[in-house]
Amino acid sequence: MTSTVTQTSGQPAPSRPVRERVFSGIQPSGASHLGNYLGAQVNYVKLQDEYDTIYGIVDLHALTTVHDGEEMRRLSHEMVLDLLAVGLDPERCALIRQSDLPEHAELAWIFNTVVPVGWVERTPTYKEKREQGVDNTMGLLDYPVLQAADIVIYKASRVPVGKDQAAHLELSREIVRAFNRRYGPIFPEPQPVYTDAPIVLGTDGQRKMSKSAGNTIPIFAEPDEIRKIVMNMVTDPQRIKRTDPGRPEICNVCQLHRFFGADYLQIQDGERTARTGCVDTKQLLAERIIEHFRPMKAKRDQLAANPDHVEEVLAAGAAKVRPILEATMAEVHAAVGIGPKRR
Ligand code: AMP
Ligand code: TRP
Repeated sequence: MTSTVTQTSGQPAPSRPVRERVFSGIQPSGASHLGNYLGAQVNYVKLQDEYDTIYGIVDLHALTTVHDGEEMRRLSHEMVLDLLAVGLDPERCALIRQSDLPEHAELAWIFNTVVPVGWVERTPTYKEKREQGVDNTMGLLDYPVLQAADIVIYKASRVPVGKDQAAHLELSREIVRAFNRRYGPIFPEPQPVYTDAPIVLGTDGQRKMSKSAGNTIPIFAEPDEIRKIVMNMVTDPQRIKRTDPGRPEICNVCQLHRFFGADYLQIQDGERTARTGCVDTKQLLAERIIEHFRPMKAKRDQLAANPDHVEEVLAAGAAKVRPILEATMAEVHAAVGIGPKRR
């Protein structure tokens, strides 16, 4: 992990990372799915080589929807395995559990005193989640403020996320500007880093693929489970008979083929001309997804055999990032005037 720059004489300058820093978080609220993978995890892995990368299992966020303690522990453990299996390397990144570092919540509280309530009330995900039946708690309202704290406590300037997170990142930047206006230029404004995937739709072909909507394709499910899920996907509702031409632009099965083979245009053409049927296209997609994740799943199974490994990885991650976040919090304490006075 690259250290932060401080001046050798006089007052320490506000610390800035030497290499640009990346942070992203993922909720342990269910098994990783194709939306997580194509929208975000692919970039988590890619960015490890170029940046100082920190990835968090954001269990405090997941408390807004996961209400059983044992289940939360299990899901957090599983999410670490997922991330290691897709290619996060604890030697090149820091993998942390948010709740191991209570300063995230502390900074969120400080941000709460800067953020007007209207900003979070207007966040589109707040309304969406309530409509999905998530309890309308203070935690749900405050969710994006904690997210801003997660990112900037490490002074991360880049955030690999799916395009569904655009509004949250915009709000993070607004929060940073509001804080910096009041207390001085402490935080950088974080920018999202997107993959070339759109917001991935779920198996219903209607809504965003998400754990809470129950419309996911879990990437590490058993092959037969993946086959079953893909075969039940909703395609073009206007294509009723096998001989009807399909509309690949609105068929989610055709859209997903884009990410699992260079021949996707031919596949889409087959649907458009009714040369192929939905069943063929689904079967092919299921087999390609299974093949794509087969080596990662094998690695995951291997890692899962040693349950202590996950806690070791998280302990090492926390140890790596602690100095970074302690330096930030010392600056914040000094700026806002709380905690013991330092010389
Ligand atoms: P979450 O599971 O909500 O914690 O999301 C973890 C990461 O996956 C975030 O960066 C999301 O933006 C991304 N993500 C989740 N669902 C989708 C989706 N349907 N399409 C694209 N990205 C997604
Ligand atoms: N809100 C993000 C999601 O639902 C999860 C998240 C929490 C996050 N903290 C973050 C993402 C910090 C990026 C950076 O996907």
